[in-house]
Amino acid sequence: MSDIETLERTILGEIEAAADEAALETVRVAALGKKGSVSERMKTLGGMAPEERRTAGAAINAVKDRVTEALARRRETLKAAALDARLARETVDVTLPLRPNPAAEGRIHPISQVVDELTAIFADMGFRIAEGPDIETDYYNFTALNFPVGHPAREMHDTFFFQPKTDGERMLLRTHTSPVQIRTMEREKPPIRVIIPGRTYRCDSDQTHTPMFHQVEGLVIDKTSTIGTMKWVLQEFCKAFFEVEHVEMRFRPSFFPFTEPSMEVDIRCDRSGPEIKFGEGNDWLEILGCGMVHPNVLKFGGIDPDEYQGFAWGMGIDRIAMLKYGMPDLRAFFDADARWLKHYGFRPLDLPTLFGGLSAA
Ligand code: DAH
Repeated sequence: MSDIETLERTILGEIEAAADEAALETVRVAALGKKGSVSERMKTLGGMAPEERRTAGAAINAVKDRVTEALARRRETLKAAALDARLARETVDVTLPLRPNPAAEGRIHPISQVVDELTAIFADMGFRIAEGPDIETDYYNFTALNFPVGHPAREMHDTFFFQPKTDGERMLLRTHTSPVQIRTMEREKPPIRVIIPGRTYRCDSDQTHTPMFHQVEGLVIDKTSTIGTMKWVLQEFCKAFFEVEHVEMRFRPSFFPFTEPSMEVDIRCDRSGPEIKFGEGNDWLEILGCGMVHPNVLKFGGIDPDEYQGFAWGMGIDRIAMLKYGMPDLRAFFDADARWLKHYGFRPLDLPTLFGGLSAA
């Protein structure tokens, strides 16, 4: 057997013996690489006589072709084997339960949902959202809202005060959203139409009170709004929020330093069954306080009471959420109990809209 035939046989043997693609690559480099055995043979052609070179050249080239072909074939075989081994190793257990989708698992807290509902309803009536800080000064929380210094109404609020600052001023956690009325009047010129949802704080805790709770304030200032306008706005709100055709409301005289006259509003409901029904029955539920903005409050807000007038109201968000969605204990709202949230919470993509239905699930 000639030298070149022996070389070919050796290389083909090595190709067959290569156990994986990496080993096959080593064989390829050793044969066809720059310094490979076949390439080295090519280099010897230069020193041959022309006749000899022709036959030897043809023979080496033929070996090179067959080796190349054998390498390609072996590579395909090894690739297929590697794939088979991986398929056998990496099994998918199709009987495993699906991992829950976060959008399906997560829940929107009823308070957030109700704030979205309020926003949808009042936005439709042309209101904007206004906001203010939770930590307030005595001036915004009381004085500018016409609570005279030393007036007993200040005591009614069970205020959380901070330690006095070096200048003696005591900051406080706002006891209502009403201070944002003043901040809004300072910021913008009438006509003003805003709602102010937010956190409020009072030192109080039982089944229907928590030290932190939520209110939504409303403020309308222009030249013509009256108690009649206010009644219409509140009535339309109640119908939309409780999703009923009719509501019956009762306006009782009351007192707030920042409104004159002041009223509290009850709505007619039926609490004889397992669920509260609105607009029928013989019970009355208090849901908000309201009134015409006191001239002193307009003055504190930098608005001329001889030119402008308006109305305001304040409502407990937690309370109307409890009424609408039948949650018996307010304290559970803030326990962060995932089971409660799963039961009473809302799906993240069920955004309340007036056309889609506020609470349609
Ligand atoms: N701020 C009052 C409270 O927390 C609620 C309230 C009553 C707000 C009448 C108003 C209003 O704007 O006009 O008890």
